[in-house]
Amino acid sequence: MIHSRIAGLGRYVPEGVLTNADLERMVATSDQWIVDRTGIRERHVAAPHETTSTLALRAARIALGRARLEPEDLDLVIASTTTPDGLFPSVASLVQDGLGARRAGAFDVNAACMGFMSALATATQFIGAGSARRVLVIGAEVLSRIVNWEDRGTCVLFGDGAGALVLEASAFGGPLSFVLHSDGARAKQLYAEGPCGPRDGDGNGPSECYIHMDGPAIFKFAVHAMTEAVRETLASARLGPGDIDLLVPHQANLRIIQGVAKALGLPPERAMVNVQKYGNTSSASIPMALCEAAEEGRLDEGARVALCGFGGGLAWGSMLLEWSTTGVAPEGGGTRGVLAPAHRGGE
Ligand code: UT7
Repeated sequence: MIHSRIAGLGRYVPEGVLTNADLERMVATSDQWIVDRTGIRERHVAAPHETTSTLALRAARIALGRARLEPEDLDLVIASTTTPDGLFPSVASLVQDGLGARRAGAFDVNAACMGFMSALATATQFIGAGSARRVLVIGAEVLSRIVNWEDRGTCVLFGDGAGALVLEASAFGGPLSFVLHSDGARAKQLYAEGPCGPRDGDGNGPSECYIHMDGPAIFKFAVHAMTEAVRETLASARLGPGDIDLLVPHQANLRIIQGVAKALGLPPERAMVNVQKYGNTSSASIPMALCEAAEEGRLDEGARVALCGFGGGLAWGSMLLEWSTTGVAPEGGGTRGVLAPAHRGGE
């Protein structure tokens, strides 16, 4: 069986920071309300010249450098986003070009906040089938461009950012099991219209593509759905919640994260939390959180990591990983690992 280890991780957020105090000046909200209900204190917002692909490229270069790989080593680039630079070409193609990954194929996936895990599952299957050895998987968003900045129910929640990882064929480690679920009948609970949507009698479509959301319905759904998805991946790997060393959930709301940890019987400190700094970055949130967990030294060799997410679709799921920085023997000696200094193509 071909395994696939994470060879390198990177993340990038734009410099611009929007604090809760800034939002108090924009809509009828308060720092206390936002912190109490969501745990979010600030989020990053892209500058006018930045796009999803420019953020993605920054994170990708870091991941590639830490993996000590050249762009030509990549067989495939998969990017997950709900906010592509345009309808086409794909963000993955723009990143492939920006890196100079001349051998790599490239495509995007869109499963809203579940996009990154869907992309990672796809990459795992490519490697497991022997169709690719090294796949760059990216989650990147400029959600600030589809947020209605006059709607206090949504504008306080979201932020911009990118996370990336290089998945590489290995002897052991990597994804042990995953589940992806969808219930499209609940589409209207969380959606953003696009320019290709339905027309009215005069041929007009939506002029603005904003995020619309039934917050309380999504909240209740999220805790139950993610908890059950984690249980499913554990069961198929013949493991239990006590075997989880670190839970890395989609960073949407601190109370949702705590609810999932509690339902699984995990102490709160076993869940990775960085939502306070970045808000909800949709498909970027899980790779950014995983990268930060690695940077903080929270992932030991052999650690079992449970990813879980939910979002528009509605879509939800989980993936169980075995953390390994040594799944592949070092080539030519030296340090080789997810956080090794980026020495080629990195920053
Ligand atoms: O990637 C997935 C994306 N979506 C999510 O993760 C959403 C999941 N849902 C949530 O995180 C929560 O439902 C929210 C944080 C969105 C809202 O928290 P809540 O505790 O469910 O509040 P609520 O929507 O039930 O609203 C309670 C009150 C309402 O006022 P009234 O009707 O009680 O007078 C809202 O109008 O809070 C009001 N409210 C606000 N007040 C101050 C809603 N947004 C705000 C705000 N500031 N930003």
